[in-house]
Amino acid sequence: MMPEQTHTLSIDTLVAVIGAGAMGAGIAQVAAQAGHPVKLYDNREGAAAQAIDTMAAQLNKLVARGKLTAEQRDAVLSRITPVDDIEALVDAKLVIEAIIENLDVKRSVLATLEDVCSDDCILASNTSSLSITSLAAGRRYPGRIVGMHFFNPAPIMKLVEVVSGLATDSNAASTVYDTALNWGKKPVHTRSTPGFIVNRVARPFYAESLRLLQEQASDCATLDALMRDAGGFRMGAFELTDLIGHDVNYAVTCSVFTAYYGDFRFQPSLIQKELVDAGYLGRKASRGFYHYGEATEQPLA
Ligand code: NAI
Repeated sequence: MMPEQTHTLSIDTLVAVIGAGAMGAGIAQVAAQAGHPVKLYDNREGAAAQAIDTMAAQLNKLVARGKLTAEQRDAVLSRITPVDDIEALVDAKLVIEAIIENLDVKRSVLATLEDVCSDDCILASNTSSLSITSLAAGRRYPGRIVGMHFFNPAPIMKLVEVVSGLATDSNAASTVYDTALNWGKKPVHTRSTPGFIVNRVARPFYAESLRLLQEQASDCATLDALMRDAGGFRMGAFELTDLIGHDVNYAVTCSVFTAYYGDFRFQPSLIQKELVDAGYLGRKASRGFYHYGEATEQPLA
């Protein structure tokens, strides 16, 4: 039995975030905005510090637009410490892992955390699709492993899926749920199923859009504009997957496809695989279905 979890994390509780990519940096910002001291760790040396620089630049823009005061910006940034050594997370009571979408890599990080963190520390995963049951299997206290699935961009998107695997302790899930609420989010409890709720529902949106492109029904800019302007969607599938990152979106599709024993509905797209193989990962690589940065946004297909 793991030690009892409390339902509320006090504001001085250290929150650790692992992975300083798009999601990890955003989650660190959310926790710091709520008032927690945060440690942001990435295994790529300097990546955490770099993510905080990027965050500062984004917060500066908000200050310039009058949406944030300079004091609020400074307070958020002062609460986040970048670290390059996982041992530095020893005092955390909530760790949120937001690294690459790969079961084995995530399992190995959780195994390391078992030795680094105290036994009452909740180990949450921001996985988009992977089984929380599998992530927890073999751990000393599998009950403390919970899905805490934020959406991109984390500081803006309200929904958080709080995902329980077979072994997840209900107190740990409730603590994560209440924490998300306290952070101004709209959490929803769900059991661990492949892709959980949103990524399951969203798969056909991406898959059918990619099939339309593959069958040359139209080009991606036209299809995006149609979904946005006529369909009322916030974004079309191509601009949205460019934002998510094709490596991430493709990995999620592969994981859901495999978990459902190769169900055709979830079949990954070769067009997206080509983008991944080419390193055209979307906005973060300045190139995906569209070009970003200096050049105007020109579709590739
Ligand atoms: P990303 O590629 O932007 O960042 C991942 C970061 O993790 C990188 O900085 C990398 O250096 C670091 N990393 C990789 N292996 C590591 C390890 N063993 N230890 C420490 N750091 C490590 O990825 P992104 O988009 O932030 O996604 C991260 C997780 O969040 C994935 O599980 C993904 O499925 C999930 N997610 C992604 C969303 C999106 O729209 N991109 C939305 C919601 C969840």
